[in-house]
Amino acid sequence: MGYAFNSWPKMGDEYFPSGTPMLQPFIANFVDNPLVVQFVHRWLAWAVAAAASALAVLAWSRRAFAPAIAVVVAVTVQILLGIATLLSGVELWIAVAHQAMAAVLLATFVVAAHALGRPRAVGAEA
Ligand code: HEM
Repeated sequence: MGYAFNSWPKMGDEYFPSGTPMLQPFIANFVDNPLVVQFVHRWLAWAVAAAASALAVLAWSRRAFAPAIAVVVAVTVQILLGIATLLSGVELWIAVAHQAMAAVLLATFVVAAHALGRPRAVGAEA
């Protein structure tokens, strides 16, 4: 997937390379077409970043400061590692760090979500 295009934010000269051979049925492109998979992956990251920001704001508002900061730092590092993976031509240690960071990012989401689900102490509503 990382070898399809090694430029960012555009794939070559375009956001989506014209002339990309497409598969039938259309849905197959999302798993079997490396160009489409890379396109979706690089842009889906911003949806993850938006979700992470919303989660961090909620966690912060519940005074779960450490989980809120961890989520923002992890998603930022993850996106930077993803871009570095591409621009380096999939330098192995960066690619592996990107994969490992995905697990760390998931862990920060779980910790932050857990902090949100924790019942407030009796008498702490005010
Ligand atoms: C929150 C954002 C992101 C998450 C959670 C994420 C997660 C992942 C995961 C789990 C893999 C491994 C897939 C596999 O082994 O089959 C991967 C691979 C890859 N990602 Fe991301 N990614 C994110 C953002 C990005 C961004 C923004 C880019 C580049 C613009 C990028 C570029 C790549 C590339 C080139 C690979 C293939 C090389 C490798 O396996 O390390 N990623 N990503």
